[in-house]
Amino acid sequence: MPKVILITGASTGIGAETARHLAKENEIFIHYNASKEAAANAAADVERRNGKAYLLQADLSNEAGCKDLVHAISEKTDKLDVVVNNAGGLIKRQSVREYEWRLMEEIFALNTFSAMMVTSLCIPLLEKGSDPCIINISSVAMRHGAPTATIYGASKAALDSFTRGIAKELAPAIRVNAVSPGVIITPFHDKFSSPEQLEAWREGNPLKKNGEPIHIAQTIKFIIDNSFVNGETIDVNGGLFMR
Ligand SMILES: NC(=O)c1ccc[n+]([C@@H]2O[C@H](COP(=O)([O-])OP(=O)(O)OC[C@H]3O[C@@H](n4cnc5c(N)ncnc54)[C@H](OP(=O)(O)O)[C@@H]3O)[C@@H](O)[C@H]2O)c1
Repeated sequence: MPKVILITGASTGIGAETARHLAKENEIFIHYNASKEAAANAAADVERRNGKAYLLQADLSNEAGCKDLVHAISEKTDKLDVVVNNAGGLIKRQSVREYEWRLMEEIFALNTFSAMMVTSLCIPLLEKGSDPCIINISSVAMRHGAPTATIYGASKAALDSFTRGIAKELAPAIRVNAVSPGVIITPFHDKFSSPEQLEAWREGNPLKKNGEPIHIAQTIKFIIDNSFVNGETIDVNGGLFMR
């Protein structure tokens, strides 16, 4: 039975790789915001792997965008089996000495409120799915402290807490989990991490490497396939942070 899957932020990086990894015989809603061409490439890759892809654009950093996205999905399907809340980003590095209210709102809107709103709106569709599940993409930044990315880290920590809360609230109907990636080489780092910083993370990792999007995609597939995993956050960081 094909699974119907929504992946937000699936134009590039982790989201696009997850779409490819889950493609075979599944229906994937590939959401993007600005990167239309990259999203179209991800959709073409899904179709090449015997999946069905639907492309949907929305700015998820506001309520109207979240509503438009889920409305567009509900015009194409009456159920969802999986929602991957992956859209997110750092937006801007800022010292705690120079916080601005507007930046705090922007970062929480993109990384936390969007996932909360999309989740809430998708529940009726998920309730009609088979072993339905929600997977939130958090970050190692919430674990070990990330100077100048502290608002972002806090927004991901809030998403992590949200994961556990709704895992209890929505059980047994819908499973909810999170994946907390370490340093993964994606366009995310083009804007916010220098080559020297990436090399320092690589050197500081016990495995002496940074991660690739496939490492997160494989974890997302594991959560979808294993119907006894619930309320969990899986850290995938090569041991950069250990609990
Ligand atoms: N890479 C890492 O080291 C790392 C580590 C921990 C956590 N993460 C998390 O992993 C997730 C995926 O990031 P990535 O590394 O794959 O980076 P990425 O390639 O930059 O992907 C980010 C995705 O989010 C979408 N997005 C950005 N702003 C948006 C908005 N306003 N509305 C809707 N969608 C928006 C982007 O869409 P468009 O390009 O189409 O605008 C893109 O598809 C993010 O939540 C990120 O915080 C990444």
